[in-house]
Amino acid sequence: MAIVRATLVFLASMFLIWSANASDPPKKVTVSLYYESLCPFSANFITNYLKDIFTNGLISIVDLRLIPFGNAKILDDGSINCQHGVEECELNTVEACAINVWPDVNDHFKFIYCVEEMVVNGTYREWKKCFDKFDDLESHQLVLDCSSGVHGRKLEYQYGAETNSLVPAITGVPSVFVDGKLANDTYAFETAVCEAYTGELPEACQEAKTTD
Ligand SMILES: *[C@@H]1O[C@H](CO)[C@@H](O)[C@H](O)[C@H]1NC(C)=O
Ligand SMILES: *[C@@H]1O[C@H](CO)[C@@H](O)[C@H](O)[C@H]1NC(C)=O
Repeated sequence: MAIVRATLVFLASMFLIWSANASDPPKKVTVSLYYESLCPFSANFITNYLKDIFTNGLISIVDLRLIPFGNAKILDDGSINCQHGVEECELNTVEACAINVWPDVNDHFKFIYCVEEMVVNGTYREWKKCFDKFDDLESHQLVLDCSSGVHGRKLEYQYGAETNSLVPAITGVPSVFVDGKLANDTYAFETAVCEAYTGELPEACQEAKTTD
């Protein structure tokens, strides 16, 4: 028994050493985008700025979070009032559900990018065409069911609670927080990401925008 116990203790400490080493790589920088689906500034930010981190390599050091709620208000009766009306509430919820159904940021960003490009194009009522980017038909249905039901509403309540508890409170959308701190210049958030990262900087940081 003593040998077994000693072996277990040994293995446990090897595991601790291994996991300490495994956690050595520097933490990714958390980038949280607070936005609302039909806001032209949000759509422009997503499709003309944020999308760059997926092509310039910055995404390798970023943990990107999208929070589709923005200036919406949760009313006393539990209903949600969106700045750009009912359609915005619907699309916020669709995007929240897409994040839920496709947790991998590469997947849900592809979908949200498509919807937001339609917002820019003025064709967002055709948003279901964005499902074409996903072969898995079952996932389409999951997003639809979520967005028309209680689950979607629950996700929006969560995003609303998060948005409403930000310090400092946001004064407009889009707003970006980098590791929990409001980025002073939304459009230069990449600079804040490179400053916050403690590891070896990817090439994208050499050319990180300092202005828009
Ligand atoms: C938006 O319009 C551009 C230019 O016409 C087009 O290339 C693009 O595919 C459109 N995007 C979507 C998602 O429909
Ligand atoms: C934002 O600006 C304030 C004041 O100029 C500065 O103290 C703060 O560090 C800046 N925050 C970021 C994230 O750059």
